[in-house]
Amino acid sequence: MKHLLSLEKLPRADFETILRDAKTFKQTRGAHKTQPLAGQTWALIFSKSSTRTRVSFETGIRELGGQVMFLSANDIQLGRGEPIEDTARVLGRMIHGAVIRTFAQSDVETFAAFSKIPTINALTDDEHPCQVLTDIFTFEELRGSIAGKVVTFIGDGACNMPVSWIFAAAKLGFELRIAAPKEFQPSADILKRAGGKIIVTEDLNAAAVGADMLYTDVWVSMGKEAEAAERIKIFNGYQINAPLVKLAKPGALVMHCLPAYRGKEIDAETFEAHADTIFTQAENRLHTQKAVLNWAVS
Ligand code: CP
Ligand code: NVA
Repeated sequence: MKHLLSLEKLPRADFETILRDAKTFKQTRGAHKTQPLAGQTWALIFSKSSTRTRVSFETGIRELGGQVMFLSANDIQLGRGEPIEDTARVLGRMIHGAVIRTFAQSDVETFAAFSKIPTINALTDDEHPCQVLTDIFTFEELRGSIAGKVVTFIGDGACNMPVSWIFAAAKLGFELRIAAPKEFQPSADILKRAGGKIIVTEDLNAAAVGADMLYTDVWVSMGKEAEAAERIKIFNGYQINAPLVKLAKPGALVMHCLPAYRGKEIDAETFEAHADTIFTQAENRLHTQKAVLNWAVS
């Protein structure tokens, strides 16, 4: 039984399998040799909004031969307080796999333990493993192996995106720099658990120098809306823009997991200048999701 709950727990060999298969799924779209989800029904159980993750998983499951249902957490009894343990035991007796987007990391872990069906983390407050797998796939598609390269993350260094990047860095051997205000830097515990070469700084210019990729994410993650005004003040200046891109390596990639807020974490001109990369990255969610699903059932 395989679950993708966190990149911390994903062995390096499995990273490599997923990245390799994503390439094959991209190349063979419309003519996949196998239908690994044939005869299976999967559920997407989402407590937070989603465009890319939802559509890529729904499409991916169907194109791999499976059936899929979307369950908004508010529309099932979970939203009225039915315990996750009971929801998991019910679904585990009816369906073959689950893709979950929620708040607490412990909820996806509990679901996996109680349902006994393959469970995929489609974003929690702690991690967004599917997104970082896609980002690495996209980097390697455009620039070759990420090993030995420098990835610079600018913005909220304590949210799900940088945490998944942190756990990927040591395993795949690239340098990760995180430029974030003091109050929004990753915890010492996470850095210690991950190991690898990770530099955390408040100085975004220093972090950008010579980088192979500049990456950003929203300043206000889902669930943090009440802190929006305060965050916008604190993150002011932590933006990918033309002067910052100039500090990176010539030809450096600019990536964004999306959705993007122009004028906040990235300016409109820089976003449009790198839109081709950013929307290839978004498209690649589909191909990588298929590789994750195939890995989970094999
Ligand atoms: N990047 C990402 O996960 O997008 P959605 O929130 O639209 O799924
Ligand atoms: N950190 C963002 C990622 C969105 C894909 C959030 O959690 O809202």
